[in-house]
Amino acid sequence: LYATVRHSLFGVDRLLNRALVYALLSLGILLLYLGLFVAIYRFLPGDPLLQMMAATGLTLLVGVSFNELRAWVQRLVDHLFYGGWYDYASVVEAVSDALARTLDRDRLIEVLTHQVPTMMHLHPGRLEIGEPGELLSDDLPPSPTTARFRLTFRGQTRAVWTAGPRRDGDDLSTTDRRILQTLARQAEVALGNVLLIEALRRRLDEIRAVQNQLLRSREEERARLARELHDSPIQLLIGLNMQLGLLLAGVSSEELETSCLMQELTAVRAQVRRLLSDLRQVCAELRPPLLDTLGLGAALRALLDEWSAQSGVEACADLSPDEVLRALPDEVSVNLYRVVQEALTNVARHADARRVTLRLTWEEDCLVLTIQDDGRGFVPVAPRDLVAQGHFGLAGMQERVALIGGTLTVESAPGRGTTVRVDWP
Ligand SMILES: Nc1ncnc2c1ncn2[C@@H]1O[C@H](COP(=O)(O)OP(=O)(O)OP(=O)(O)O)[C@@H](O)[C@H]1O
Ligand SMILES: [Mg+2]
Repeated sequence: LYATVRHSLFGVDRLLNRALVYALLSLGILLLYLGLFVAIYRFLPGDPLLQMMAATGLTLLVGVSFNELRAWVQRLVDHLFYGGWYDYASVVEAVSDALARTLDRDRLIEVLTHQVPTMMHLHPGRLEIGEPGELLSDDLPPSPTTARFRLTFRGQTRAVWTAGPRRDGDDLSTTDRRILQTLARQAEVALGNVLLIEALRRRLDEIRAVQNQLLRSREEERARLARELHDSPIQLLIGLNMQLGLLLAGVSSEELETSCLMQELTAVRAQVRRLLSDLRQVCAELRPPLLDTLGLGAALRALLDEWSAQSGVEACADLSPDEVLRALPDEVSVNLYRVVQEALTNVARHADARRVTLRLTWEEDCLVLTIQDDGRGFVPVAPRDLVAQGHFGLAGMQERVALIGGTLTVESAPGRGTTVRVDWP
């Protein structure tokens, strides 16, 4: 019985509501009649005609005002059942406020199908959002117990809001409909905002996808170029170098020193060798060869050694074992390598540091990369603002890290050094 009443199973609240209204109404009318007749016989004694006229008049009066009386008792009982009448002004105010702050579709649905019905003592409503022409509730016939509103955006119906029925079972009153109409107009504005934001989010996702694709294809293109250089010009130069070597090997040392032609040939061979070494360097920059053969750990150690020798800054590394790092996906290795490359370039250019520490270790399930220097530090700026000022390094790092699903943080303060940290995944 408790559950039936508590959760109004079988519509029991409506039954109880009506029973109470009619019980109160009957009792009220009975008492009214009794009171009236006692009063008439008390105050108009001894004149039956007058008494009869007064009784008829009063009966008519009660009859005429019955409807008013019933509505009044009904409101009283509803107040008991559903927690009071609703105050139109505060409904409009609260809902307008909620709609103005609505930025996503779930919230809009929540406001229109729960908040409004609760405040107006209606059953939960329904909000169908969709493409024009695909809205099923748009074709339903009108009903006295519910109100249906089309919400349009850019001249097309993009949602249908069905409100009602009332919890006391009555038809919607004119006032209910007027209020709902007012709220529907505001809901239309909120729907416009929601759809615009969704469209913006989609555009942003598209832009991000294109940006990621660009980063990926740049890396692929570099690898392809490195292969091309390696397979064709470098092989040719190696052959040329060998041929020149053979040619010069057959010449006596005396002839080498006296013959102009031989001296020219020796100079050409030296140039060929320089060209080979330059091309190998270009190849290595395009695609660090160690990355593919020995993995990220070896590639980073080589990079750090070379960087330290060039910059004169002391460098030390604490890296996970090579076999662990070799198992990293190719895309992750390449992008982490590029992040370290740019971070080291920044240290050399801006930090004026004495020492750099590179760490790449697993902390629980997370790979953590840090490049820490003891240089002059700086006040970190949002990458967006850096790009606006013509600095692309840190922003590029952030894009690369986002591409592999990691997060990048830069910790720095003037005089306190800088730490660039990547957490992956
Ligand atoms: N390790 C560091 N120590 C001190 N300042 C740094 C360090 N790293 C970055 N900065 C500061 O942050 C700024 C932005 O760095 P970012 O790499 O984005 O651009 P950039 O190095 O100036 O130019 P580029 O686009 O060529 O990389 C730098 O100009 C520098 O002032
Ligand atoms: Mg830079």
